[in-house]
Amino acid sequence: MLPKTYRKVIASHFSSHFREAATIVEAELLPPAAHEITVRNHYAGVNATDVNISAGSYTPGSQPPIDLGAEMVGEVVAVGEKVTEFKVGDYVTTNSLGGYAEYVTVRSRYAMPVPEATPEVLSLVISGTTAAIGLKVTGEMRTNETVLVTAAAGGTGQFAVQLAKLAGNQVIGTCSSEDKAELLRQLGCDRVINYRQEDVGAVLKAEYPRGVDLVYESVGGQLFDTCVDNLAVRGRLVIIGYISEYLSAPEMVTRPRIYRTLLSKSATLRGMFLLHFIKQVPEQMAELVKLYTAGKLQAAVDGRTFRGVEQVADAVEYLHSGRSSGKVVVTFAG
Ligand SMILES: NC(=O)c1ccc[n+]([C@@H]2O[C@H](COP(=O)([O-])OP(=O)(O)OC[C@H]3O[C@@H](n4cnc5c(N)ncnc54)[C@H](OP(=O)(O)O)[C@@H]3O)[C@@H](O)[C@H]2O)c1
Repeated sequence: MLPKTYRKVIASHFSSHFREAATIVEAELLPPAAHEITVRNHYAGVNATDVNISAGSYTPGSQPPIDLGAEMVGEVVAVGEKVTEFKVGDYVTTNSLGGYAEYVTVRSRYAMPVPEATPEVLSLVISGTTAAIGLKVTGEMRTNETVLVTAAAGGTGQFAVQLAKLAGNQVIGTCSSEDKAELLRQLGCDRVINYRQEDVGAVLKAEYPRGVDLVYESVGGQLFDTCVDNLAVRGRLVIIGYISEYLSAPEMVTRPRIYRTLLSKSATLRGMFLLHFIKQVPEQMAELVKLYTAGKLQAAVDGRTFRGVEQVADAVEYLHSGRSSGKVVVTFAG
């Protein structure tokens, strides 16, 4: 028996200050339409970009309110009359807006089947597939190359490290604490740089004088500049994000245009935004689930517990504090 109402987190107005934008509302839980399924949320994934979603950057032209939360995993509790691919009791994940809700109703083609509704499987949905597509498709990852991952112990960084290792590369990862460094070593990272203890540029120059072949870059600012400066000839830098500027105005920089550096090394910068690769997600997700189930891929989940709609803003702020390690999740019914 389903409840008549459920609670969800919406942006009542747009702001990158997530807590200020977020409002908890109660909504009617309607039966799914013919092609829809209703899913009871077990875990919602927290993403750095939640603050961009609450700022309205993901829905250009739209007006608030919008539903917040980018992904969830849970159990199907009702199916529309034309749905054939899912039945009540199946575990599914979704990566469309509205993940911070007790129940989610989506068109069945926007749901992906998963073997279990766990935080680990959830971590593969956005964080894992971004790493897979960012490295393999956009980054044209090869083997026997040097791969540098920034924010390497984070939600997506951890998968970039492991996938680059699985492909037979030498992997360097940056992070900010000894605990994260330990996690990275355990994930197989060959050279961990705790940037609070060592200067990233100096380490790269001294230990990788030929430069880095492929960079998975999520931080931006000075670290981005350092990565560009240390690209190898024909190096590729995949821009995954620039978290250091999500909560502040863009830093204005005056320096020679970047074509000097890039041309002198035949190097390239490539942006990768998951929404533009959405058709490739189910295939990459299935591949990641296979690796995870076979024990070839670990999925680190942060140890801090956040529960329900009330603690969503706490979880988003925790991720942006820089202290989290692995995937941050909010527990709804797990
Ligand atoms: N392009 C896409 O489609 C896509 C998809 C998913 C994620 N992303 C991007 O990937 C990056 C990581 O996202 P995530 O959700 O997986 O987060 P996360 O890595 O789990 O958490 C953020 C981490 O970034 C590092 N960081 C560096 N400078 C920071 C700063 N100024 N403020 C806060 N954290 C800082 C911190 O680790 P250390 O300082 O210890 O390294 C922090 O733990 C973000 O840029 C995000 O936008 C992009």
